[in-house]
Amino acid sequence: MFHATIAGTGRAVPEKVLTNADLTKMVETSDEWITSRTGIRERRMAGPDDILSDFCVRAAIPALAEAGIEPGDLDTIILATCTPDHPIPGAAPVVQQKLGARRAAAFDLNAACSGWLYGLHVADGLIQSGKAKNILLLGAEFLTRFTDYTDRGTCVLFGDGAGATALKATKSDHGVLSTSIHSDGEGSTFISMPGGGSSFPPNRPESRDKGLYIQMKGGETFKVAIRSMVDVCKEVLAESGFTTADVDWFLPHQANERILTATAERLEIPPERCVNNIARYGNTSAASIPIALDEYAREGRLKRGDLILITAFGGGLTWGAALVRW
Ligand SMILES: CC(C)(COP(=O)(O)OP(=O)(O)OC[C@H]1O[C@@H](n2cnc3c(N)ncnc32)[C@H](O)[C@@H]1OP(=O)(O)O)[C@@H](O)C(=O)NCCC(=O)NCCS
Repeated sequence: MFHATIAGTGRAVPEKVLTNADLTKMVETSDEWITSRTGIRERRMAGPDDILSDFCVRAAIPALAEAGIEPGDLDTIILATCTPDHPIPGAAPVVQQKLGARRAAAFDLNAACSGWLYGLHVADGLIQSGKAKNILLLGAEFLTRFTDYTDRGTCVLFGDGAGATALKATKSDHGVLSTSIHSDGEGSTFISMPGGGSSFPPNRPESRDKGLYIQMKGGETFKVAIRSMVDVCKEVLAESGFTTADVDWFLPHQANERILTATAERLEIPPERCVNNIARYGNTSAASIPIALDEYAREGRLKRGDLILITAFGGGLTWGAALVRW
């Protein structure tokens, strides 16, 4: 039976770097507080003329080239984002047009920080069912456009960027071995941006009162994120007959270094096997996993045959995990 393999990766991040020192001029905070509580030292910030779909295209071009897929051969484009260019149309068809991927069905997928992981689950299912062979899976966010730079509890966390993964159908031992996704709407207020949708549309005054910014209950999110990611990682390992001792790389969504470390510790995975680039990008939501995959792949750290355990957690609440043979 066919399943998906990651045949190429790419990334594109804005040029502007927003450092912790820059943030101390905007809110009452310090480099010491941000670094010790989150592990973040700097993050990228989209410039006024930057457009998310352009960053997706810039990330996609090297991913498709590495995979040997022409844009015209793509049959599906999935763009995981909660910050598309605009509500209508979705950003994925815009990317499709810019790439010249005329045959591809293209759609956005919003599962907040778990978006790329959800996309991998969907893409692997499409390939397994025979409905697709070549899929472009993107995770991209311009979260700084929806960040309240008077709220020190959230504004230090988020950054912008795009990551691309080119997926191909394969029958080999490489690629996606197992995926699992979960949701719990009971925690829908933990991470939210209430305004801009049909509940608080732009034509209602209350929508303008911070409804268009990301809001977060940091403490509650912190605890449930660790517990959920540990559980779902154990689930995909058990399903495939592996244990954490078999895992070469653990790649968690880059939300907060303390979350990464605590999750890895509970899974008994040592820090040297944990992918960690949060210091330079902050939390880029759905983009964090494909950006990190591309970075570690291009630095030659991921070796063919490595077993990679990937997990994510985000607003919804949503979470999931995947086990991938590189
Ligand atoms: C946001 C987060 C870093 C806050 O860390 P924390 O240790 O929980 O800190 P708290 O929210 O308990 O705040 C502790 C104190 O620091 C203060 N504080 C909050 N942000 C601050 C900042 N940027 N600089 C300085 N002080 C800050 C708080 O006001 C509070 O002060 P008080 O005790 O006088 O009230 C942490 O909760 C977190 O990372 N949560 C998960 C967030 C996340 O990853 N979300 C996305 C998941 S996909």
